[in-house]
Amino acid sequence: MQNKYEALDKNDDNSDIKDLYKKIFPYLKPYLSRAILGFLCAIPIGAFEATVAMALKPYMDSVLVEKNLQISSYIPYLIIGFTLIQGLFIYLSGYLIAWAGSKTKVKLMQSLYNKLLNMESAFFDSKSSGLIISRFSIDASIATDKLLSQIKMLVTKSCSAFFLVCVLFYNSWQLCILAVGVLCFAIIPMSKVRKKISFISRKSVDVAARLNTYYNEAFGGNKIIKSYNLFKNREENFIKILNETFSLGMKQVQVSSLLTPFMYLIASLGIASVIGIGGHLILTKQISSGNFVSFIAALVLLYTPVKSFGNNYIDFKGSLLAMERVFKILDYTPSIKNKENPIEFGKFQNNIKFENVWFEYEHDIPILKNINLEVQQGETIAFVGNSGGGKSTIVNLLPRFYDIKEGKVTIDNIDIRDISLEDLRENISVVFQDNFLFEGTIKNNILIGSPNATEEELNNAVENAFLKDFIAGLDNGIETWIGERGVLLSGGQKQRIAIARAFLKNAPIVVLDEATSALDNKSELVVQKAIDALMQNRTVFVIAHRLSTIKNADRIAVINSGEIVEVGSHDNLMQIQEGFYQTLYNAQFKTREQAEV
Ligand SMILES: Nc1ncnc2c1ncn2[C@@H]1O[C@H](COP(=O)(O)OP(=O)(O)O)[C@@H](O)[C@H]1O
Ligand SMILES: [Mg+2]
Repeated sequence: MQNKYEALDKNDDNSDIKDLYKKIFPYLKPYLSRAILGFLCAIPIGAFEATVAMALKPYMDSVLVEKNLQISSYIPYLIIGFTLIQGLFIYLSGYLIAWAGSKTKVKLMQSLYNKLLNMESAFFDSKSSGLIISRFSIDASIATDKLLSQIKMLVTKSCSAFFLVCVLFYNSWQLCILAVGVLCFAIIPMSKVRKKISFISRKSVDVAARLNTYYNEAFGGNKIIKSYNLFKNREENFIKILNETFSLGMKQVQVSSLLTPFMYLIASLGIASVIGIGGHLILTKQISSGNFVSFIAALVLLYTPVKSFGNNYIDFKGSLLAMERVFKILDYTPSIKNKENPIEFGKFQNNIKFENVWFEYEHDIPILKNINLEVQQGETIAFVGNSGGGKSTIVNLLPRFYDIKEGKVTIDNIDIRDISLEDLRENISVVFQDNFLFEGTIKNNILIGSPNATEEELNNAVENAFLKDFIAGLDNGIETWIGERGVLLSGGQKQRIAIARAFLKNAPIVVLDEATSALDNKSELVVQKAIDALMQNRTVFVIAHRLSTIKNADRIAVINSGEIVEVGSHDNLMQIQEGFYQTLYNAQFKTREQAEV
């Protein structure tokens, strides 16, 4: 099970470029006309270099050798004219390619974000936040930012190479064969370096993700870091990762920098042999000196891009690897999704049943074992038991945060996996111990699940959640900004906002998982009142530490190590001598009951 998600972060050893292009194509398709136009504009950019080299021959022969001044007088204008036209094409092609590339990126990131939202909870359990940012945002940028511009460069460079070779050939076919032959040697080190670079790139990605996590933890865990004096610990670990980044970066430079001198060597070999043999050809009048100068100019222009090929290649390979990772994610089908033609489900009316339910987070480690339970509409069922027994797990199965392994969970006798996820979740409100608030105002946060609620419904929810006085005391009232994750509020206030949200949603089923456990006595009291109101006339699954909540439940299910060991009312369960509930009651609740009274 673990490997399922791990594989999403890794590059395969033999990725097929053709396959990747096929996958990115649909994203590029809407912008293809501009991209092609951009590529077309890139062709003359390459051709201009050859034209300049070509022009050197008549210049040499007519002006320098034959002293023909007429040609020399219009050459300056030609140069300026050419540069202007070349500039225009560079601008056009740069703009068009960047436009198509950025649009493709936007589209890709949109799909990735959609995928992220639809990922199952188990995926998030297995990932760090840093990894999520790397995978879903940074990779998309790397994949698309450089891809088109690299292709453009390739188009320009290959056109320029093609025309330059033509110039070479025109000036002297003998020298041309020699020069191009030497150039072919450059291919050998390239292929050697390729493998090495892929390996380093892959490692760099892992390390970058770990760095991200450290930033996120410095943000989210800043209070823990302060209170445990973790500065040194954090910093040391961070420096370790930084150093790893450094050595990986240096390795990459090592490999690519070795390539550059090698290319220079090959280039100089080519030029040296051409000059050696070229002299002979001029002396024997096989070529003119204009031919020779034009040839050398074209050759230098041809070798220049070859020399920088190493660095371009690193960028290009990086893009491809990132693209591969991006498509791994996009190709992944979330395991919790609607089945084909799901049943449309209205409002829950009769009962919820767990039938022989087995569940595991990790392969072959059962967490829930053969759970059987039937809950009637309107009933309140409380789950009690030791920590880690599986109480939260059971209630998380209802909205399908996780899917079960065996058995079935039904709602009104329909398997919840047959119902559309939207309809199912529409029927359930969940209030956790720590509820997530979004950056925005109190009002935004209450309305988030029910944007069409009327002013009256909103006011009722605020009142029922005992938020009215609190909001009235704020300068900006319900429009008060609460900061990311609601950091500007107390725990009790946050809980009440979450409860107001649930009131507005008005779902018939309510799941309360330790909703008051993190609160101090005073806040707990008012939150409890709000919760009591929310429980009215609803079917409630409650995990609570307050004895009164448990006692008032219609039935109590005792969960021990993933099994339901006792079910019944408080009085019934207390009858079972030495039973699980009685033992638990004596050990935990009794003292608390005295405190509550
Ligand atoms: N996301 C998860 N991934 C893997 N194991 C988990 C996850 N959540 C809980 N567990 C494990 O499942 C067991 C039951 O946990 P939980 O349902 O949270 O217990 P309770 O709510 O009764 O305290 C525990 O052993 C816990 O370690
Ligand atoms: Mg729990």
